[in-house]
Order: sequence, then structure tokens, then C-alpha cells
Amino acid sequence: MKVFTTSRQVAGHYEKCSCKRPGFVPTMGALHEGHLSLVKSAILKSPMVAVSIFVNPTQFNDSEDLKKYPRTPEEDLSMLAGIMRENDFVFMPSVDEVYPGPDLRAFDFGRLDKVMEGLHRPGHFNGVAQVVSRLFDIIKPSYAFFGQKDFQQLTIIKELAKRSYPEITIVACPIKREKDGLAMSSRNKRLLPAHREKAGEIYKTLKKVAEMARHKEIDELKKIVSTTISKIPGFRLEYFEIADDVSLAPLKNKSEMKLSRKYYACIALFAGDVRLIDNLRISLR
Ligand code: PAJ
Repeated sequence: MKVFTTSRQVAGHYEKCSCKRPGFVPTMGALHEGHLSLVKSAILKSPMVAVSIFVNPTQFNDSEDLKKYPRTPEEDLSMLAGIMRENDFVFMPSVDEVYPGPDLRAFDFGRLDKVMEGLHRPGHFNGVAQVVSRLFDIIKPSYAFFGQKDFQQLTIIKELAKRSYPEITIVACPIKREKDGLAMSSRNKRLLPAHREKAGEIYKTLKKVAEMARHKEIDELKKIVSTTISKIPGFRLEYFEIADDVSLAPLKNKSEMKLSRKYYACIALFAGDVRLIDNLRISLR
């Protein structure tokens, strides 16, 4: 496994090994089994794999959140060294390397970034699109792997690739969970023990409402989720929505559901000051 910090080193590596375009896994580090599952999928599919570790300042709308974001570069590298091969590489650039000047690009994703995460974290997806497009330009992958954990991000990246990077295939990877169902996340490290103990309730609640969705109205489901979450000390619901993975439009009524679409129950909440998101597919049959 190689470690590079500049795009010149990446280009030099491509020249030296005369490799084809790699499979690519972009991350912000503080790696866990969820990230590693993406890397393992990439390794199975691509003779060469690139993993980026870069905490992207432009996608944080809250500077405190950026400051508090966990950074564990040494642990990250040793986890990756355990699975990556000789010509695979980790790209750990500086902010100046990714953004030699201010990135003033404004992406227009229509309604896709105006709901759920987009509504609650203004500018977040513009920052994600900026960094992913910069990384795509530097890494020039054939495949790029993204987790379904970030449901809305995945749809937006598919849209970005469709418009600007048709040569890159976006591969969606399933959510990795802890034993109690909590979706793995770099942010879980910051949970207070009391909050961590209760955090399995998030998945349990999603499962419960996903099963009820065939019979109950959306408003009823929302009420169940908000009551369940508000009963957990220190937890505060930000939103709960049911949306399909193409339009991302949150449903108002059960009658809007179409059998041809895939629907997901999506949740965002605070456990203390740690913001968590999760989602679960709803079966309509
Ligand atoms: P980060 O949160 O580090 O996540 C990197 C990738 O890992 C994303 O595609 C995310 O969906 C996936 N992932 C995280 N937790 C997962 C889990 N429990 N199971 C499966 N996959 C999981 O998402 C970002 O970074 C950034 O926005 C990025 C795309 C790197 C742009 O900065």
C-alpha cells in the first residue's frame, strides 16, 4: 500500500505502474468497519484501489462540528494496511492540495438537496459535490463506492456522476451496523456512554415504523418516531421522513407511494451534541 499527499504523486504512480483507472473510496477518516466494507468491495472489483482520507471543510456548515470531527490518521493507515495491496494507495491531501484557491462553484441539484439533510445543513451537499468532483478529477476512478448510510448523499453523487462523470460507475454499499443495530459512524466515538447505550433504539424504531408503513399514515409514523425518540434522555429528533431514492421527495400521504419506487425511512437526531443519521428500506409488499 502506498500513501500519497499530492495529486502529482498520484499521477506519477499511474505512470509507473501503467495501471487502469482505480476503484475509489472517498472518506473523511476515523475509519470503522463500515468504511472497510466499502474498501473490501472495491478490492473485489478493481485491480487497483484508492482510498482518500480528507476532512472536507466546505461540507461543514458548523465550524464547531468541523473542529470536533474525529481525526485518527495513524489508526486509519494501519487498518487499511491490513487489507490493501501493493499498488493500492491512500490519498491524504492537505486542504491547499484539494483547494488551491477558494472553490466558488455552486452546484444545482434542483430539489434533491433542498430536503432532509439539505434543509437542515444548508450548503452541505454543495461542499460534498465540490470535494467529490475535485477528488474524481485527481483520482480519475472507474468505480466509486459510497455507503447507503448516507442515503441522500448517494443519490446526489449519482446525479453528479450522471451529469459530469459518465465514465465513473457509482457503486452503492449496504449499511454496516453494530450488534445493537446502531449504524457505524465516525461520530459514534463521541457519544457519551449513556447515549451510546440507548443508541440501538434508533434502528429498532426505524424497523418498527418500516413494518408499520404499509398500514399507517405518514403522520402517524412521524408521531410514533418523535414520541419514541423524545423519551430517550438527551436525544432530540431533527427529522423523520419517508422518501424514495430517486426524487428524495418526502411523502406527505401513504397514497403517494408507487410500487415502482424504493422507499426509505430516514432519520436525523442529536444524541447530546452528536448528530446521527440512519435509514432503512421500507417494504411495500
Ligand atoms: P464519511 O462519513 O467518512 O463516509 C465515507 C463513506 O463511508 C461514505 O460513502 C459513507 O456513506 C460510508 N459509510 C459511513 N458509515 C457507513 C456504514 N456504517 N456502513 C456503510 N457505509 C458507511 O461521507 C463522507 O465521509 C463524505 O461526505 C465524503 C463522501 C468522503 C466527501 O467528503
